[in-house]
Amino acid sequence: MISPQTIQQITSRLDIIDVVGEFVKLKKRGANYLGLCPFHNEKTPSFTVSPSKEIYKCFGCGKSGNTITFLMEHEKYSYAEALRWLAHRYNVEIEETEVTDEVKQQQQVADSLYIINNFAQKFFTEQLFLSNEGQANAMSYLEERGFTEDIIRKFQLGYDPQEKNAFTTAALNNQFSGDLLLKTGLVVNRNDELMDNYRGRIIFPVHNNTGKILGFGARIIGKADKAPKYINTPENEIYSKSKILYGSYFARQSIDKQDECLLVEGYTDVISLHQAGIENAVASGGTSLTTDQLRIIKKYTNNLTIIYDGDEAGIKAALRGLDMALEESLNVKLVLIPGNEDPDSYVQKLGANGFREFVAGNKKDFILFQLEVMLKEAGDDVNKKNDTVNKIAETLSRISRAEDFTKQQEYIKQCASLLRIDETGFTTLVNKYKRDRVNQEEKRTAFEDAKNLQQNSENTVQNFDDTDLLLQQDELQERNLLRVLLEYGLNSWDEERTIAQYIFNEIEQFYFDNSELRYLYETYKTQYQQGFEPTAKTLLYHEDDRIRNMVVTATFFPFELSQRWDEVMENMNILNKDNSLQDVLMSLNYFKLHKIKKMFGENQRDIEQSKDIDEQMRLVKIHKELKEMEVKITQQLGTVILK
Ligand code: GTP
Ligand code: MN
Repeated sequence: MISPQTIQQITSRLDIIDVVGEFVKLKKRGANYLGLCPFHNEKTPSFTVSPSKEIYKCFGCGKSGNTITFLMEHEKYSYAEALRWLAHRYNVEIEETEVTDEVKQQQQVADSLYIINNFAQKFFTEQLFLSNEGQANAMSYLEERGFTEDIIRKFQLGYDPQEKNAFTTAALNNQFSGDLLLKTGLVVNRNDELMDNYRGRIIFPVHNNTGKILGFGARIIGKADKAPKYINTPENEIYSKSKILYGSYFARQSIDKQDECLLVEGYTDVISLHQAGIENAVASGGTSLTTDQLRIIKKYTNNLTIIYDGDEAGIKAALRGLDMALEESLNVKLVLIPGNEDPDSYVQKLGANGFREFVAGNKKDFILFQLEVMLKEAGDDVNKKNDTVNKIAETLSRISRAEDFTKQQEYIKQCASLLRIDETGFTTLVNKYKRDRVNQEEKRTAFEDAKNLQQNSENTVQNFDDTDLLLQQDELQERNLLRVLLEYGLNSWDEERTIAQYIFNEIEQFYFDNSELRYLYETYKTQYQQGFEPTAKTLLYHEDDRIRNMVVTATFFPFELSQRWDEVMENMNILNKDNSLQDVLMSLNYFKLHKIKKMFGENQRDIEQSKDIDEQMRLVKIHKELKEMEVKITQQLGTVILK
């Protein structure tokens, strides 16, 4: 694990504007910076970065975090990778402390797998180019298929000999462990004997975006009758099928330049297209597209052209990716290759220019294509036609971003006309699907909050003035108190105590109802008592992402409620410049007041239910005490509190 000292050095040097500015064009706006959100599609900027708080928040999609989480989200780095990236950028030497064994092991495994894959690629390429068998079996086949030596070298193709353990022996002689070799999938265990898994096959290395080899595809030579045509690397510490686009390392610059990504199915399709100079092509590897793959594409372009075989399987595979692509706001076009051809054979047949022209001239709109296919399938069947109407409405409802509104309108018009149905009714149907989904999503995100609130309100008498947002929710009070604690905790309250100590003492008898916020509070308190000096900034880099997330939520609090808070501040006539003490006092009082209100409710209920007179007397006494506390706090706040 990276040592706290290193993290501290990194965090003291980093500049969130500098880091985020590397990926997002930012403009200064008051104390903050503003830009187009990189996490969702928008035309007017709502992505806000606060240099003083070292956090960002998008008021469009709600994404928020710090420099580290930005790198994690945007670059898909792990926490440690993000720190390493920053360390490199700010010239901080990394000092490692002991890591948990599990993490250490995982890192070591990943590192080793890269090393083995690198070794394997060299071995296979050597076999292809330098061995007689490689030349006779594999190179002749590749040449027959029209691949040039240049392209074979560029994609680092190779060959694993027929002999049952040519690679295994070489790898073991090189001191690689059997267990790790098994993990790469290059080696298998048959009756307690390790042997090559890809013998007699052509090897296609699969590279990540920086050119490191994640795994391999291994193709049988000639027709695949009994054995599978391809064998691919199993999922392991570095190979995750759903996150891989074959060829992306070689295609990324061209995709960027052409502002279009061509998506094909197979390894050989990618290679042939690149050989023809059509370099913006990647392959999904014959499975349906995943969101992760679409996000990789979206880093470079919004225009995705899927080029699949025109057979039924190809069409089905293409359509499976449609809904997801729409949600990622990609413009998706479809090109079907005719006959028994695939992009590989077709580009070799037509030549580069012929193929380019074919693609340009045969792009179908994806949604209209789907409609066409479904209508053809439905024929005269009324039920099927109904299904089609619903499915298309559902699809169109996924074009939900405001910027795409015109596009959606246009589709509704075209589809309604093709379906021969009334446009207004169809619009209503689309909107219904949209609403359903929004509701579902809201339900999901609100779920956690709702759960907490419900638990809390069960025993609460809900007689608060509902215009007073600040008194409504436990969570707001808790968050707000944590905000001042994080912001001012280390400052002094009076001659003897810091603000943190004052707050600890004042709320000793109260309890954080929200478990996440309680966890943050307790983490803060522990760190404080152990002599660390916790602040929002240090905790923003805490290794536990629950803490990091809560810090962001808590420190963004005044942003979200600023107007209300300002009003309250104004009501209190706080005019002096440093109002941190008042801020603390007020936050503390609202917190306590809210808790007291809640205890009132609980106490009231207990009184009603209690049958024992002594018990009742005791509860009434508590009631009086609570009342006194309330009055005191109310006076201090100087505001009129209800009932
Ligand atoms: P060629 O037949 O040599 O042109 O290969 P291709 O790349 O065109 O393959 P094809 O179009 O048949 O399949 C597309 C992709 O699906 C391949 O590149 C592989 O990633 C994957 N695939 C094909 N066959 C198999 C198989 O038998 N097993 C597995 N796991 N994947 C396969
Ligand atoms: Mn093919």
